[in-house]
Amino acid sequence: MNSMWEMLAGLPNQYRWAADLEPPSVPPTSSALVCGMGGSAVSGDLAAAAVPTALVAVNKGYSLPGWAGSLRPLVIAVSYSGNTEETRAAVDEALALGLPVAVVAGGGVLGDLADQRSLPIVRVPAGLQPRAALGYLTGSVLRLLESAGAAGDQVEALGEASSVVAELWGNGPSGPAAHLALDLADGLAGRISLIYGSSGLTAAVAVRWKTQINENSKRPAFWSVLPELDHNEIEGWPGLESLTRRAMGIILLRDRDEHPRVQRRFGLTADLISGSVPLIGEVWSQGTSRVARMAGLALIGDILSVYLAEQEGIDAVPVDVIDQLKVLLNEE
Ligand code: F6R
Repeated sequence: MNSMWEMLAGLPNQYRWAADLEPPSVPPTSSALVCGMGGSAVSGDLAAAAVPTALVAVNKGYSLPGWAGSLRPLVIAVSYSGNTEETRAAVDEALALGLPVAVVAGGGVLGDLADQRSLPIVRVPAGLQPRAALGYLTGSVLRLLESAGAAGDQVEALGEASSVVAELWGNGPSGPAAHLALDLADGLAGRISLIYGSSGLTAAVAVRWKTQINENSKRPAFWSVLPELDHNEIEGWPGLESLTRRAMGIILLRDRDEHPRVQRRFGLTADLISGSVPLIGEVWSQGTSRVARMAGLALIGDILSVYLAEQEGIDAVPVDVIDQLKVLLNEE
């Protein structure tokens, strides 16, 4: 398998691929439920945040939410491998309830099921780590939402996402995104990362940063969201200062469309907790469309997570613990 750098280099083309895709027709709907796990599910988080006027929920687990039977959303099952047991269980339940189901997969059991049951499917190119297929997966979900009439035309926005990511990528390790990421990686060296987004657009990207640091850098990371954290988490910072001053670093993910009170809260929150953490970095989204702003911000986190892996001499690609758990689950 390619290195993580090589996989990230393909991201601009992934968004372009999704923009050029001819999405399959799906039953018209005003609500959708994206089912998936891990690197596949985060595409649902990003897609839902990209089209805030659509009713899109994300389901990360074996069972569908109780309301699915009555609201009857379009179920979009996303699994890069097509084999993830939770996603397969959710699809089985959706089919048993007679809900409309569409699949996004690179093949696997869900790919076969889609063929057997003539379910609409977007087949994404296989051969990557699922988490490195963010452009394919997010773009496919958005194009399916468009096809269902739940979201407007996504072609232009995905084209812009491709351009923003290409520009930030530049020539890779010496491009603008890598430059930003390297600075942050220096500050986060040997520390636990905590990513703060704000409800809506950057919360979804905060999830991505956190999970990329877990999976690529093989270290703990956490995320939280404003304004909610101002009502609980800030109260906890003074308690373990001698520990957190050594061990933690916070990155604020910012977007120009934040609520004005959230903008103010970011500044005040950073001031109030600055004594408890040695690093509070800040990264702003770029671009116009919501998906482009998220895609660019996600790329910086992706690169950061690879730098954090390299600091420790770790290969970002394999996810041995996740694989080990999947094996253990299949033992008697
Ligand atoms: C691995 C990764 C994982 C997987 C998850 C679900 O790169 O990101 O989080 O995405 O284990 O597998 P898939 O995506 O194949 O359904």
